[in-house]
Amino acid sequence: MIIAIDGPAGSGKSTIAKLVAARLGFTYLDTGAMYRAVAWRALENDVDMTEPLSEASLKALGVIASEEEIRFVRRPGETQASQVFINDRDVSAEIRTPTVDKAVSPVSAQEVVRAALVKQQRKIGLACDTVMEGRDIGTVVFPEAELKVFLTACPEERAQRRTIQNASRQGLFFDEDVYEQTLASIISRDAYDSTRPTSPLKAAADSIEIDSTGMAIETVVKYVIDLVEDIRGMPAEQ
Ligand code: DC
Repeated sequence: MIIAIDGPAGSGKSTIAKLVAARLGFTYLDTGAMYRAVAWRALENDVDMTEPLSEASLKALGVIASEEEIRFVRRPGETQASQVFINDRDVSAEIRTPTVDKAVSPVSAQEVVRAALVKQQRKIGLACDTVMEGRDIGTVVFPEAELKVFLTACPEERAQRRTIQNASRQGLFFDEDVYEQTLASIISRDAYDSTRPTSPLKAAADSIEIDSTGMAIETVVKYVIDLVEDIRGMPAEQ
């Protein structure tokens, strides 16, 4: 079974998808981390990201996306594999920096990158029950997914969640200036991701939209699990 969870940056996809996957005993796949890993490698390799991208840059991105290995590893004590490796280098922290935030949208807009990563995502989803989160899972990667959720929240709440999440990863406190920068970055990334010609961020016609503004995490998780139970016609939690 495939559960597709799409939505804009900071809508809570990762948190919800990880918890739903853990409760159902499904594999969890963060497709955004794959685009981030390619963007990180492109920055490392000094690929010129000035738009429109040159032939040489497109070629370099294509090689990274199709030939470099992106792997997810489970840390001890974790329920889901959320450590990200590209070619045996752990880039879990590096892919979450503002520099990668900025580079990832133009990278993920390239057909050559999407084709290579979507192929890998389909392979994983076909191999096992998966909760897959991203922007185009319900529309492009698995349009036949049994359950499609489109998760949203107002930009201010999404920026607040991201700021808190990043601060806690680095052992820092909430910072108002960082929040303002995150809000601006989220708004511009959403605009870019929603208007790009290739696989834009949009809800699949048959998706269930959940506006999580002001909703507790557990309420959203329960709602999704209830949807799975409805589809299966039996209690879904293990
Ligand atoms: O979910 P995230 O913020 O980590 O995603 C990073 C970027 O990758 C985001 O700006 C859009 C892109 N992305 C995409 O185009 N398609 C996906 N399936 C997942 C992410």
